[in-house]
Amino acid sequence: MSTIKQQITDTQQRFNDLLAAANNADALEKIRIDFLGRKGELTGLMQALKTLSSDEKREIGPLLNKLKVELEALYAKKKAELESGEYQRDAESKSNFDVSSYVPDKLNGSLHPYTYITQIIENVFMTMGYQIADGPEMEKEFYNFEALNIPGDHPARDMQDTIWLEMPQTLMRTHTSSVQIHTMQNTKPPLAIVAPGRAYRFEATDASHDYVFKQCEGLLVGKDISMSNLLATTKTFLQAIFEKDELVLRVRPGYFPFVEPGIEIDIQCIFCTNGCSTCKKSRWIECMGAGLVNPHVLSHCNIDSREYSGFAFGFGLTRLAMLKYGISDIRMLHNNSVEFLEQF
Ligand code: FA5
Repeated sequence: MSTIKQQITDTQQRFNDLLAAANNADALEKIRIDFLGRKGELTGLMQALKTLSSDEKREIGPLLNKLKVELEALYAKKKAELESGEYQRDAESKSNFDVSSYVPDKLNGSLHPYTYITQIIENVFMTMGYQIADGPEMEKEFYNFEALNIPGDHPARDMQDTIWLEMPQTLMRTHTSSVQIHTMQNTKPPLAIVAPGRAYRFEATDASHDYVFKQCEGLLVGKDISMSNLLATTKTFLQAIFEKDELVLRVRPGYFPFVEPGIEIDIQCIFCTNGCSTCKKSRWIECMGAGLVNPHVLSHCNIDSREYSGFAFGFGLTRLAMLKYGISDIRMLHNNSVEFLEQF
């Protein structure tokens, strides 16, 4: 009897000592198993109780019950303390977490060549006072053709194979020139915008043609705007794109119903002096269509063509990116090859 009483005191003492020393969840769990578990010391004492006489049971039983309640309460208290301490340490370590300390040495992200060239173009034009404009890619026939002086029966419609949608008079814009109309309808002159964006054509793809590609439109409307303003602007921006002061332009007549006169602008090949595959041995690289805004287009947008004139230009941003970065196949720009994109 005195032995079991002694055991109860010992158990209580060791439990208290171990509990005081426990400073993590693993240590606490070990105490629970050793003392309160199915094969633990408390169970051992309960089994020993069965061997005692009735009188002894009456005396020792309540002591054992008291021990059980106390050990369980102390255990629960310690568990709560440890958990709140751990939570606090966890919260502290998270609040001190420095995202910039992680420096991955592989797979650095980079901008897509489209993004690079678009940023360069936007910056160049913004320094010249232009605004960046945008317009819908799913477009009404009116904005893509009619307002640009290309009525339904006009042969110029065949110059751009169109992706028509099932909705009436709706198409995927074949060029960014439609942004000219949205801009002039919403802004009164003087105005100057560039509009980089996607264009879609019902075309077979090859190394230099895709059915979706990027163009950039430019439009300036003001008073006494002339062809020399157009050529000076074009030269300035092409010099900035190709980082070359000595850039020779060639101007040829070109036909676009929304400009009059219309021109095509080529640059002298920047890659060779006597013919290469990029310029197809011609020494000239086709760059853009341009011209003075046709008065009919100004009238469609309620701009008085006796008071205002303007110039417009449109170039293949895709083609420009290919020239600038020496990309030989347009399809590489869209196939998401990591190997290709990592070069930029
Ligand atoms: C036009 O789209 C006119 N809107 C440009 C313009 C604007 C002229 C303002 C006058 C005034 P064009 O169809 O030539 O023009 O296309 C312009 C450029 O888009 C081409 O020089 C070429 O670089 C690019 N382009 C045309 N079709 C494709 C294609 N399928 N894939 C990739 N680029 C293309």
